[in-house]
Amino acid sequence: MNAFETKTVSWKLDYPTIDDLRKRARRRIPRFAFDYVDGAAGAAEQNMKTNAAALDAVEIVPRYGVDNFTANLETKIFGRTYSIPVGIAPMGIPSLVLPGGEKEFARAAQDRNIPLVLGSVAGATVEECADLAPENLWFQLYRVAKDELAVNLDMARRAQESGVQVLVLTLDVPARTKRPRELRARLTIPYRHSVQTVSEVLKHPNWLAAYFRHGMNGFANYKPYAGVKPSMADVTAFVRRESGGSFTWDEVKRFRDAWPGALVVKGLLHPADAEMAVSAGADGVIVSNHGGRQLEAAPPAIDALPAVVDAVGVAAKVMFDSGVRSGIDVVRAMALGAAFVFSGRPFMYGLGALGAAGPGFVADFYAEEISAAMRQIGAQTFAETRDLKIRHPGALSF
Ligand SMILES: Cc1cc2nc3c(=O)[nH]c(=O)nc-3n(C[C@H](O)[C@H](O)[C@H](O)COP(=O)(O)O)c2cc1C
Repeated sequence: MNAFETKTVSWKLDYPTIDDLRKRARRRIPRFAFDYVDGAAGAAEQNMKTNAAALDAVEIVPRYGVDNFTANLETKIFGRTYSIPVGIAPMGIPSLVLPGGEKEFARAAQDRNIPLVLGSVAGATVEECADLAPENLWFQLYRVAKDELAVNLDMARRAQESGVQVLVLTLDVPARTKRPRELRARLTIPYRHSVQTVSEVLKHPNWLAAYFRHGMNGFANYKPYAGVKPSMADVTAFVRRESGGSFTWDEVKRFRDAWPGALVVKGLLHPADAEMAVSAGADGVIVSNHGGRQLEAAPPAIDALPAVVDAVGVAAKVMFDSGVRSGIDVVRAMALGAAFVFSGRPFMYGLGALGAAGPGFVADFYAEEISAAMRQIGAQTFAETRDLKIRHPGALSF
């Protein structure tokens, strides 16, 4: 066993759950970074909690007696076969958790053969990440209405020229939301030195070392649009001024006309919105409530999944995120009809807890747990999970 393998064995014992990684991340990264990832909308962060509780409530009745059992975890979507049906959800700024974090995500995605959805507000460009994950990069956009979406459409062009095959439009941020923990921690996006942030950084030498190594390239993708040789302050001002609101269905259609690859609409809970997305030309939708970060009163995303699958599951790929913390959670979503699952915070906790090796460790964690879960329930394929008896007490009907 080499040194890395020995370390991985001991990590598996030390961090058998995502919550163990979360606790280590809390110790290892500055408070503003941890609260950025770990926080959610509302005083009680209710929707983040109900996401987890609703997943816990989904029960699967196992079946036994299969000979020569082998679980097949490979999952094909939009023309590519991934090792497991789990991808890294778009999360704005991994480099807040660890400077250089976007690139660590991209390397892990390529190495473990899972998709990474790079967020447009990331601290690395789509070109840089596509170099590192040439087959596995998807790209997510927030709306920049300026000049009839000229900035967004140019970002999509750059993604296409970099080899990105899947474009994701996020709809569930119609307005900025209040996340109390971010305010208390004095989070500034992108990172800026201040008395509070520097005093936190100085307590976390790994973060500081990564900062010296990688710097901080805030809103890297927006730079070309923010003037000639823009400073970080210019780029930030541009993003604040020009972005916001959620894409309209007509705008989704414009992307359909301009984008030759697969088009995905992220952040829907209502089957009628999923139907609108498909009518506008989307090839897929992600049922999601942004991990409880937007609307505190939203229902758990898993409870909306079956109705969306019923509405558009034949015409489009229905994917899922929000609250997934284990292999059995992935299997629950797949059994309820998801074509693919995304996971957000767990990959950030991995990055914060274990540094560069963290995102790959989390991908391996999912692969092992999904494999074990499939064996426990007696399903060799995800199609077979759909024939099992499932109790889903919170399932919404519309
Ligand atoms: C720190 C953080 C930043 C996020 N930034 C974005 C983003 O830029 N674009 C987006 O579409 N979703 C964003 N999300 C939402 C995720 O894509 C995803 O929906 C959510 O994290 C899923 O819930 P989970 O964290 O419980 O897995 C973000 C989530 C987190 C935790």
